[in-house]
Amino acid sequence: MLSPKMEKALNDQINAEMFSAYLYLAMVAYFQDKNLSGFANWMTVQNQEESFHAMKFFRYVAERGGRVTLGAIDKPQFEWESPLAAMEAAQQHEAYITGRINDLMNLAIKEKDHASANFLNWFVAEQVEEEDSVNEVVQKLRMVGSNGGGLFMMDRDMATRVFTPPVE
Ligand code: FEO
Repeated sequence: MLSPKMEKALNDQINAEMFSAYLYLAMVAYFQDKNLSGFANWMTVQNQEESFHAMKFFRYVAERGGRVTLGAIDKPQFEWESPLAAMEAAQQHEAYITGRINDLMNLAIKEKDHASANFLNWFVAEQVEEEDSVNEVVQKLRMVGSNGGGLFMMDRDMATRVFTPPVE
């Protein structure tokens, strides 16, 4: 059984992952509006990954005999001053999520909940990848700067990303 504290923290994380999905969906709309369909595709995949993360927490809570409770999802920001500003916001958001996963892990250790610590290990590794992939996009965008041709090429590249359900 999950402790009440752990159950609440895991339920809060379902909400945080759903918010992540919602934030990235707002970015899909932003990039579509800027006619950057490759970036919109990249963010669509990001949105799918976040929904997957939320469901992974959802299934785990149920598996441990907990009760899934769903709260309201906050309204995300949906306007940014540039593609770079949007991607930097995604970068900051991923760093925030990594912090939340680390807090969850600290709680699991404190509560001597080995099963949850083992479960959360998957997310510790996943966040390394999540941060790495968004950092790469931010760095490329900084290199491209105000070069329209560079942005066009990058958009073509971003169009090739496909969602593959992560190995659990
Ligand atoms: Fe679910 Fe991008 O962290």
